[in-house]
Amino acid sequence: MSARPALVVTRRIPAAVESRAQELFDTCLNPNDCPMDEAALVTAMREADALLPTVTDRITAELLGLQDRRVRIVANFGVGFNNIDVDAAKAQGVVVTNTPGVLTDDTADLAMTLLLMVARRTGEGERHVRAQQWTGWRPTHMLGARVTGKTLGLIGLGRIGGAVARRATHGFGMRVLFVDPYASDAQAAATGAERRTSLEEVLGESDFVSLHCPATPETHHLLNAARLSAMRPHAFLINTARGDVVDESALVDALRSGTIAGAGLDVFEREPQVHGALLGMENVVLLPHLGSATEETRVAMGNRALDNLVAFFGGGSPGDRVA
Ligand code: 8YV
Repeated sequence: MSARPALVVTRRIPAAVESRAQELFDTCLNPNDCPMDEAALVTAMREADALLPTVTDRITAELLGLQDRRVRIVANFGVGFNNIDVDAAKAQGVVVTNTPGVLTDDTADLAMTLLLMVARRTGEGERHVRAQQWTGWRPTHMLGARVTGKTLGLIGLGRIGGAVARRATHGFGMRVLFVDPYASDAQAAATGAERRTSLEEVLGESDFVSLHCPATPETHHLLNAARLSAMRPHAFLINTARGDVVDESALVDALRSGTIAGAGLDVFEREPQVHGALLGMENVVLLPHLGSATEETRVAMGNRALDNLVAFFGGGSPGDRVA
């Protein structure tokens, strides 16, 4: 029998990280890459010392509270950890870690990608060309909205929000506003973003609104019908945070009625399901949760999760402990 801690990795992760996991731990991988069902997660919680889950696994109070649970640490693959019942983990003495920092730039890049795509109608244009509907250049064809020099409102000025602010300011000469009760003045000064004390002020002044807050009970449906109405009719909403920060039905209504001009979405309320109405809208850009999806970042996320496990099983405190 191996003396090494037993680790279950719930999904395929980059090969280099899987190899490192196998060198460090008695590792059970998921070669088929199917999401683990409840029964498989129960088995993992009973038979492993550590779990390395992703956003597609719900680590519930029931799993954490299993009488014969063996897992002592849940090392999440991701900075967001709303898939884990952190209060239950704390109550049960289960350590939880995440992977901050390593995905900041790629996620900020994707937020800018969505912003540019929706403003300049590039998804629509690409579909047009591929459908062989393009009949030739003309001065009034697919006119979009200018990005350079416009006002961007950030809901949340943490690591990713700050990185978006820097890109928008330095790359596109945008004026950046933000609301974030947890951001310090030093953080704001480092990004050049202007603080607003209420969400409504940011919504009312911005041409683009981008969400960079975590999913918590406090931020659930933060962008509801009333808040969407507070946005300007020519404004675009960008979401690379979590789907349930936006009331998706209210967003559909706002897009249908022209309350806002469009949306760029990388995350959804019930992934991988997407509200059917969004699928038919040309003024919406839809991506399959690609925020951190670069080779470099996914390797770094995996290594960060393994570093947290190494620290824990080495008797130290993992650097990215959130519970
Ligand atoms: C990941 C993310 O794709 O880190 C996060 O919070 O949303 C993404 O980077 C996902 O969480 C992987 O589990």
